[in-house]
Amino acid sequence: MRSVLLAAVLVAAGCASSAAPVPSASSSPAASCGGRPPSYEQEVTPLLRHYCFGCHAPGGEAGEDHDFTRYETLLAQRRQLGGELETGAMPPGDQPQPSRAERELLQRWACLGAPRDGAPRPVTGV
Ligand code: HEC
Repeated sequence: MRSVLLAAVLVAAGCASSAAPVPSASSSPAASCGGRPPSYEQEVTPLLRHYCFGCHAPGGEAGEDHDFTRYETLLAQRRQLGGELETGAMPPGDQPQPSRAERELLQRWACLGAPRDGAPRPVTGV
């Protein structure tokens, strides 16, 4: 009897811990975009700074219409951003290129609706 109880406790504990880190997959587009949302602050911004801000920042050659230091601009242009990365059109060929994993991270972030840390944004009007 005791061992049955113990087993039940273990099973319950196992369920609880494996269920915890899974976000509500059904209400997010994560499945079609291929995974968890990257962190805007920790992962996306450093890559943009490294590969894009040379031109896509105030004063840069693409800084007027495509200032990617502004979150609002990124949010509004996320589909273009994902498209440019997917085709490899950006960064321009003579510039340092992100690795495949870095490219995919930025694409995934754009695909998921360019979420900001700690504020999962419902994707509406897509
Ligand atoms: C060497 C400069 C340079 C770098 C580095 C660069 N871009 Fe660009 N990008 C440009 C220029 C120039 C344009 C055209 C600007 C315009 O039309 O006003 C552009 C346009 C774009 C556009 C808009 C395309 C459209 O549909 O009009 C996107 C999105 C973009 N870049 C994404 C990126 C991303 C993401 C990176 C970094 C991974 C990057 N770019 C790095 C120069 C650069």
